[in-house]
Amino acid sequence: MGVRYNNRKWKESMRLRLDYNNMMTEFVGNKEGFTRKEIRANMNVIDTAYNLVQLKRGRAMMGWTELPYNQEETVADIIATAKEVRKNCDYFVVLGIGGSALGPMAVFQALCHLHHNEIPKSKRRAPKFYVEDNVDPERMQALLDVIVPERTVFNVITKSGATSETMAQYLIIMKILKEKLGADAAAHVIATTSETKGNLIKIAQEEGLKTFYIPDGVGGRFSELSPVGLFPAAVLGIDIKEMLAGAAYMDKICAGEKVFKNPALLLATFQYLSMKRGKNISVMMPYADGLKLIADWYCQLWAESLGKANDNAGNKVYSGQTPVKALGVTDQHSQVQLYTEGPFDKVTTFLAVDDYRTVFEISEGCENIPDVSFLGGHTMNELIQAERSATEYALTVARRINHTIYLPQINPFTIGQLLFLFEMQTAYAGEMLRINTYDQPGVEGGKQATFALLGKKGYDEKREELKNAPQKKEDYII
Ligand code: PA5
Repeated sequence: MGVRYNNRKWKESMRLRLDYNNMMTEFVGNKEGFTRKEIRANMNVIDTAYNLVQLKRGRAMMGWTELPYNQEETVADIIATAKEVRKNCDYFVVLGIGGSALGPMAVFQALCHLHHNEIPKSKRRAPKFYVEDNVDPERMQALLDVIVPERTVFNVITKSGATSETMAQYLIIMKILKEKLGADAAAHVIATTSETKGNLIKIAQEEGLKTFYIPDGVGGRFSELSPVGLFPAAVLGIDIKEMLAGAAYMDKICAGEKVFKNPALLLATFQYLSMKRGKNISVMMPYADGLKLIADWYCQLWAESLGKANDNAGNKVYSGQTPVKALGVTDQHSQVQLYTEGPFDKVTTFLAVDDYRTVFEISEGCENIPDVSFLGGHTMNELIQAERSATEYALTVARRINHTIYLPQINPFTIGQLLFLFEMQTAYAGEMLRINTYDQPGVEGGKQATFALLGKKGYDEKREELKNAPQKKEDYII
């Protein structure tokens, strides 16, 4: 039987749409809005960014662009391994942080039942799922209170193998497993890491762990479509081939040089021009609980990729835009007041869903109270769409630039498209800002200081530097 993602008509029906009306002067006025003329006036920057992305794709740290195409063997291995895990365990736990955790969490939230862990196994048809992306001791204890280690597979994910948080978790879990299972402990840990560098690969070889590899040119925040995200997704029963097909589909859509036809290039252009106007906040507001953690994933991608002190020529630029997550409709009742009436410093991206996976009717009732009874007979689907349109309208009338990305449905194909769209948008924006999109010296600084504070060998100099840093004054602590 053919798969739906090979059917041209179905794919077209699932194509994401970008509505950028409310970025334009006709809708938000001359001061706030953009014109096609203004965009064309920046064609130099746009073309250069486009050409650089095309030139660099597939090379160095842009290996992620090829993930939709070059993983046939890996995907087969992932699916076969995931099948065994699904059969043999009740709990599946990811140990990882940052780019090694946010993608798996986002895809889980988008494509599994919203109460996955609470529904019966017969309905879940996958293990319970947890992602441990912190070193809060209470959280580790809480995990151990709800799982049975002998019935659990742990997927330790770290590209560098040097991330203290992940490796601390690994040490704790491995000791517990060895105490409980002896030589069988290794069968409960699967490593996802670099094949060529780092500590985890050495440990995996010594311990005999099943290992998936993160390709060299794929950095943490661009790794969701590598084994980092594909393996947990496959364990959860998600169709990872469809996700990759969605990414490939979006890649083709974003491949053209015409800015008004290329959604990633156009979004990057709007954000770049907005940053130049001092709009330093990017709000990501999905109107679907399923997409809530996609917003978290986006926040890391946008923040860590574009927040840079220096440009490629070494000039101090302090670039970037602070990403903020908001959830529609929930945050209409907390943040939208600020977005509508506060400073003109934000660009809002709404994520809309045409067809939710269920239709829920609002019951008739309270006939004597028209303020309530008007809701009866409508559906929650109508209500959430009306609230989204109303919020979009309120922002637009208040001259706050915003745009909407429509997902026809939430499924692996559209999620693959969305992830790839944001990755390409980030790549184009990085080139427009002329910065290194793929490093994170600011994060490394914190990692090094942690090593020094915990007495890691080779960090004496850093330890000395920390010792000589200004000591805190008691006076300032009340
Ligand atoms: O995007 C990144 O590169 C980071 O967020 C990393 O994913 C994060 O620091 C974890 O690194 P690692 O996978 O090496 O443990």
